[in-house]
Amino acid sequence: AGTFAVFGHPISHSLSPQIHQAFARQFGLELEYRTIDAAPADFTAAVRTFFAEGGRGANVTLPHKAAAFELADERSEAAARAGSANVLTALPGNRLAAHNTDGAGMVRDITERHQVDLRGHTALLLGAGGAAHGVAWSLLDAGVETLTIVNRTPESADALADAIGDPARAHTRYWEDLADLGAFDLIVNATSAGVLGKSLDLPFAIVGNRALCYDLSYGKAATDFLAWARTAQARYALDGLGMLVETAADAFELWHGKRPDTNPVYLALRKQYG
Ligand code: ATR
Repeated sequence: AGTFAVFGHPISHSLSPQIHQAFARQFGLELEYRTIDAAPADFTAAVRTFFAEGGRGANVTLPHKAAAFELADERSEAAARAGSANVLTALPGNRLAAHNTDGAGMVRDITERHQVDLRGHTALLLGAGGAAHGVAWSLLDAGVETLTIVNRTPESADALADAIGDPARAHTRYWEDLADLGAFDLIVNATSAGVLGKSLDLPFAIVGNRALCYDLSYGKAATDFLAWARTAQARYALDGLGMLVETAADAFELWHGKRPDTNPVYLALRKQYG
């Protein structure tokens, strides 16, 4: 079924090969799926080489998602909104298509796997970098009533809200004022604090009594935020492992035209990650 890869830096701990091979087995497909470690300066050349040698599709993770978007010849609406891509697909004539499945994957994890309807939720988005851009529009598409964007550097939050351009629903507040914003139904941690080994100082007052707290990362990077959410008695404290599997399923369907069953793959990874 062809050759695929995930590009990142670092990439050695990526779960993508395992996930895509598990999906492929569901359909009896044989595929090659590699990890390619490329420093930022080498990313574009590495991608071109991979596709020139017959690669059919690539997943892209940190820190290359913006560069992947830039180098593509065609961009899906989801990628254009986020300004970044986590999927590159070969098109005829050595052209590449960029797509972003992060937001759809997160929403599907919440609404389908965890059966939480986001319509009418008041949502707080922590962070305004690449990860936040990847999910913001999808939260609005899922029907959240309001999206409050709070970032340590307020200018980036304003830029994201401006790009969304729906001031009645999406607006920004200052990080310093978090304790005075009232309680939210949904709190999404899209900061890279956990990945960087830093904890966030968040007030319990932002956690509503039916709150769903969601960290876009998983493993050690999500531990502090989820511990905070549980202490605040959030109804749900979820990491991004389910999102990872859902985003992979979207890429798999794009490439193979078949929809994998994500649940067994998710449950197997959950055993590994506790
Ligand atoms: P990613 O692609 O993971 O989103 P990014 O684009 O570098 O990475 O964005 C990182 C986000 O995490 C930013 O919103 C950043 O806030 P700043 O814009 O102020 O830098 C946020 N972030 C990182 N470390 C943080 C910390 N210790 N406290 C609060 N926010 C943090």
